[in-house]
Amino acid sequence: MIKKLCCIVGIALLAASCKENAGTKGTAETKSTAAVVEDLHTQSNAAEVTMKHLDLDINVDFAARQISGSATWQIENKAKVANLKLDTYDLSIDSVTVDGARVTHRLDSFVKHLGSCLNVPIAPASKVVAVYYKSGKEATALQWLTPQQTLGKKQPFLYTQSESIYARSWIPCADGPGIRYTYNARVTVPKGLMALMSAENPQRLSDSGVYHFRMEMPVPAYLMALAVGDISFKAIDEKTGVYAEPNMLEKVHNEFAETGKMVKAAGDLYGEYRWGRYDILVLPPGFPIGGMENPRLTFCTPTVIAGDRSLVNLIAHELAHSWSGNLVTNATWNDFWLNEGFTVYFERRISEAMNDKSYVDMLWELGYQDLEKEVADLGAASPDTRLKLDLTGRDPDDGLTDIAYEKGALLLRLIEEKAGREKFDAFLKKYFSEHAFKTLTTEQFLSYLDDNLLKDDKEFREVVRQWVYTPGIPQDAPRAAQERFNKVNAERDKFLAGTDAATLATTAWTTHEWLHFLRKLPRPLTTAQMANLDKAYRFTQTGNSEIADLWFIMSVAAGYDAAYPAMEQFLSAVGRRKFLEPLYEEMMTTGKADMAKRIYTKYRMNYHPLAQTTLDKLILKS
Ligand code: BES
Ligand code: ZN
Repeated sequence: MIKKLCCIVGIALLAASCKENAGTKGTAETKSTAAVVEDLHTQSNAAEVTMKHLDLDINVDFAARQISGSATWQIENKAKVANLKLDTYDLSIDSVTVDGARVTHRLDSFVKHLGSCLNVPIAPASKVVAVYYKSGKEATALQWLTPQQTLGKKQPFLYTQSESIYARSWIPCADGPGIRYTYNARVTVPKGLMALMSAENPQRLSDSGVYHFRMEMPVPAYLMALAVGDISFKAIDEKTGVYAEPNMLEKVHNEFAETGKMVKAAGDLYGEYRWGRYDILVLPPGFPIGGMENPRLTFCTPTVIAGDRSLVNLIAHELAHSWSGNLVTNATWNDFWLNEGFTVYFERRISEAMNDKSYVDMLWELGYQDLEKEVADLGAASPDTRLKLDLTGRDPDDGLTDIAYEKGALLLRLIEEKAGREKFDAFLKKYFSEHAFKTLTTEQFLSYLDDNLLKDDKEFREVVRQWVYTPGIPQDAPRAAQERFNKVNAERDKFLAGTDAATLATTAWTTHEWLHFLRKLPRPLTTAQMANLDKAYRFTQTGNSEIADLWFIMSVAAGYDAAYPAMEQFLSAVGRRKFLEPLYEEMMTTGKADMAKRIYTKYRMNYHPLAQTTLDKLILKS
């Protein structure tokens, strides 16, 4: 039975617990859960065969929309098993060698969400396994853009998005967050294009189209990243810089000019930045998420370029992952809140170091509203509203909700309030340094927290467990001061009582005040109210994507058709799932399914495969 389980269930070694188990007998399978953690989303056998280093040698073919080449793994067959098992998803495997000699591999049948396990026969002393392969048409990590889908319109573009379990669709690998390795890569692209990875990166074009990369720190597969396109670099300071398509490089550079200061603020809080450079790559608008914390090179949506730096807390977030996530990593996707909840908390602490407190209070409050909405959508009793998730047999993307982010961040805030900021900061700093390049489960975090911060407080230790293991928003959830939003509420009330929108006291408002104002208006407003707001503040024309998205949702609800052409324009270009889903959903639930279908069918090709999957279900199901 145990054996059978191990064939279908990956077991990730926990670096953190290696030491304490040194000298104990038995194979990885028979050891207690202290030594191994079951990761249900990998079929690899990394607990038995260590995969320490990857040499990737790939070619990017835009015409065929295919990545092909070899992934060469340096292994150590610790448990002396007969097979190395790697995750693959829609890869075709041309051949495999072990220590230079061709072997006969076997690709198991496809398992939903997980892909096909690749079995490579190995001997106890085997050292090097090379897999020659090609990516498939269903590669979930890859978005291939035509020149038309870029800003420059001249060159194609490719980027990857490997989190959560999509790295296996472009690299045969042990694809679990608890499995880390270093890597080198050689990437060949068409001449005239730049290639970048989550590694040491070039700053100029290579004449030959061949690029070399090195990542000397061990990282999990979900942090493997590649982007190829017409990309230029501009330095911010010695250690930070931006990459973008040439025609938006200046704007991007201006928006993110404070990045160096952010890195400093983050390091002052929780210990030195361990990754060398910190650069940001701004992608074309089809990028399906806001940002991705690829080590040394955050991938970011252009929809945060608002022109006034008002959305740069996304960068604080991705930067914070350089500690929470990239340095100290969730052991499995069930422990996702350890990555995201910590990062939201840390992101707001960076913001607090760089802005006044009332600004960060707004971020906390908007986050709280997101959490309330998420809990209402999922149902307050839903197991998915617990911090510790159970994603058995499910797509790990199901765990990608505001629970991990906002409930997780609130728990840390509660602990901070209980322990006092000074003690809590010292605790976090130590936590990051002692677990650097390691992996933790929720349970290991809780026991570390007990030992290092809550020793004398049995009652509160129980409170923390309630937060982690029970659903809903706990009664004792901290709530930010509402100073600035109270003023916004007063203006909203005036507007709803009939005051002309143009006369409201809004001159000092930032994006976040506007977001609160719009969120707290009744839905639907009358078309006259919509027109009155639009005349005063020109929301339909706004260049701020957060405000635009909310405004278009309100427009759909109200049937305010003056906004529809701009909305269609927005939907034709922007691929960020967070914007697309609620907007299309509003059309579906307010009797405008025909409009949703028409627009979606027209622009579906501009969206990322993962966004397509989500939206197909929402819009095309009927
Ligand atoms: N790591 C996440 C993105 C992610 C999570 C992708 C899980 C796939 C699976 C990233 O750090 C993130 O949280 N991005 C947010 C930004 C935000 C919270 C500031 C996003 O994309 O909206
Ligand atoms: Zn994040």
